[in-house]
Amino acid sequence: MTLAAELAPSFSQRLSAAAAETDRLLDRLLASAPCQNEILRPQRLLDAVRYASLGGGKRIRPFLVVEAAALFEAPRERALMAGAALECVHCYSLVHDDLPAMDDDDLRRGQPSVHKAFDEATAILVGDSLLTFAFDVVSRPETHPDAAVRVELVSALARAAGFGGMAGGQMLDLAAEGRFDPRREPLDLAAITTLQQMKTGALLRFACVAGAILARARPEEREALARYGEAIGRAFQIADDLLDVEGDAATVGKSTGKDAAAGKATFVGVLGAEGARAWLKNLVAEAEAALAGFGSRAAMLAAIARFIAERRA
Ligand code: IPE
Ligand code: IPE
Ligand code: MG
Ligand code: MG
Ligand code: MG
Repeated sequence: MTLAAELAPSFSQRLSAAAAETDRLLDRLLASAPCQNEILRPQRLLDAVRYASLGGGKRIRPFLVVEAAALFEAPRERALMAGAALECVHCYSLVHDDLPAMDDDDLRRGQPSVHKAFDEATAILVGDSLLTFAFDVVSRPETHPDAAVRVELVSALARAAGFGGMAGGQMLDLAAEGRFDPRREPLDLAAITTLQQMKTGALLRFACVAGAILARARPEEREALARYGEAIGRAFQIADDLLDVEGDAATVGKSTGKDAAAGKATFVGVLGAEGARAWLKNLVAEAEAALAGFGSRAAMLAAIARFIAERRA
């Protein structure tokens, strides 16, 4: 039996457990979210925030925080708090990514996107609310009793989400379509790597590093987790781009077959599906190599790298 097959049952159980715990935690955090005025509540916004964040999703990022924290035996409840905060940033990024001004997608997680179920202005405010709520959550003492650790998490999450990370990568992604300069040069593989590391990789890297920050792991351990996070971050977007070409909307839960038409800069576009798959395999090997120093303790993280590359949704 291969290692992947041996791990399969416990892998899916652990992913579903972390996903269910994240769902419950987000539900509880949102239900008790402080609202200045209980008489005049922005109810439509609160409903849309719940729709955006509790409507499915694999919860792979919180799972990564949980498993990275488990590697250093950091308390699971704290990892779940950091994971919930990260998931808020991720859900916000999807709501804005789907807006007509960005990827213009009407389907997300098998449901109408937030701007379809509600409206565009509400979807913009959902993004604002989830991004800020993430920092509300991550800065609470339940995330870590030591304020210095919380500040480190806040800073790392801010950098992963902002213009040097996800938001900046989204800008490069739109620019690569040629929508601001039709005469732009197509991006080469190095530039696509940078773009994807920013738009997708930065949040996944944060998930892994957060586990090490929560545990106050040694600098070399933190660097190993960062290297692992960078490899899976790059793998994640290549797998997503393959799904856009090879997946069907019913399984993937979002529209497929749109990237090429939109002129998105992807590995699949430059190397073809087979070439992108080979690249993906190298990235999984890179992720596994980054974990070598942890030995069999990191088996679950290695399994996550394979899952990311092989996923069908
Ligand atoms: C989709 O992320 C967006 C990308 C970064 C490619 P996921 O595939 O993790 O989406 P959900 O959260 O499971 O819906
Ligand atoms: C990444 O890329 C999205 C974010 C950083 C939010 P995509 O635009 O390919 O993600 P999907 O395919 O819409 O989920
Ligand atoms: Mg996009
Ligand atoms: Mg998109
Ligand atoms: Mg995509």
